[in-house]
Amino acid sequence: MKSYNDYLSIVNERIASIPYPEQPEQLYEPIAYTMALGGKRLRPVLALMACEAFGGNCEQALTPAIGLEMFHNFTLLHDDVMDRADVRRGQPTVHRRWNDNVAILSGDAMLTMATQLIARTGEQHLAAVLELFNRTAMEIYEGQQWDMDFEVRRDVSVDEYIHMIRLKTSVLLGCACRLGAIIADASAGDQQAIYDMGLNLGLAFQLQDDALDVWGDAATFGKEIGGDIMNNKKTFLLINAMQRATGDDALELRRWLNDPEAARVSKVAAVTALYERLGLRELSNEAIAHYNDLALQALDRTSMPQEAREAFAALINRLVARQS
Ligand code: IPE
Ligand code: IPE
Ligand code: MG
Ligand code: MG
Ligand code: MG
Repeated sequence: MKSYNDYLSIVNERIASIPYPEQPEQLYEPIAYTMALGGKRLRPVLALMACEAFGGNCEQALTPAIGLEMFHNFTLLHDDVMDRADVRRGQPTVHRRWNDNVAILSGDAMLTMATQLIARTGEQHLAAVLELFNRTAMEIYEGQQWDMDFEVRRDVSVDEYIHMIRLKTSVLLGCACRLGAIIADASAGDQQAIYDMGLNLGLAFQLQDDALDVWGDAATFGKEIGGDIMNNKKTFLLINAMQRATGDDALELRRWLNDPEAARVSKVAAVTALYERLGLRELSNEAIAHYNDLALQALDRTSMPQEAREAFAALINRLVARQS
């Protein structure tokens, strides 16, 4: 098995070689801009790793894996419009650098380019891969709509939150793992187990994204801190704060949630302090550890060789330590 950085180089090299037409400039330049900004490339790396872990040739998984990364980047263009986010990967988001219309249409083009890349899967695996990808994409849109619906609701439960992040984030990690397994001709049991690993890894991943949105460092995280707090996103942190806060804390939290004019620095600082007082950093870390544990258990249900298992376990540890 190769290291994460080896897979990353393979992925980045292929992404750098994607040709984009020159015109219309405002359609293609934002796509090139986004794809060149990097990011962790987690989804294609998972696909390549899963393919090799089950004895496949990861060269055969490369083009559809790049398709998944293109699809992920498409969701980010639209997500940043929906979340009114100004910075991603340390740079202005497409809708800030250009405008909302550009982010919508370049995003649409990225979705189609993603489908074209995935459709280049070898004939033998194409039907299974397309069916998996299309189902996953629909689930992500459902998750994104729940995420928006929850912004204006006050009674969202932790279970509903987990269901929402499973859809908006985890299924794509599961899909990446399963895509690699399909191309390696892994057994149905292995395909399911590695999908479950990706799902649980994805839950831990989104919980951590929510925590970094509060406690991360903007310079390394690459996004503005406090975006979720400003949008009243029903994250694991906010849901638990609403359930745990009593007395003055409860009154203060309600005041912030009901103040659309709140100044960013004041609201973010006050809600962060409340999360600290309520012990939510620890609670969130426990939840992350729980889902990472479930990911490791799913990994143990696969038949992959020990070396591959260790490579996935190392990836999980790498993600736990991540600051970006
Ligand atoms: C951001 O995904 C969206 C979430 C699901 C949290 P990543 O954290 O994988 O973003 P990049 O691709 O590394 O920038
Ligand atoms: C993003 O969740 C999920 C998708 C893009 C589908 P977030 O809204 O938390 O992601 P970031 O924090 O903007 O990257
Ligand atoms: Mg979002
Ligand atoms: Mg967002
Ligand atoms: Mg986030």
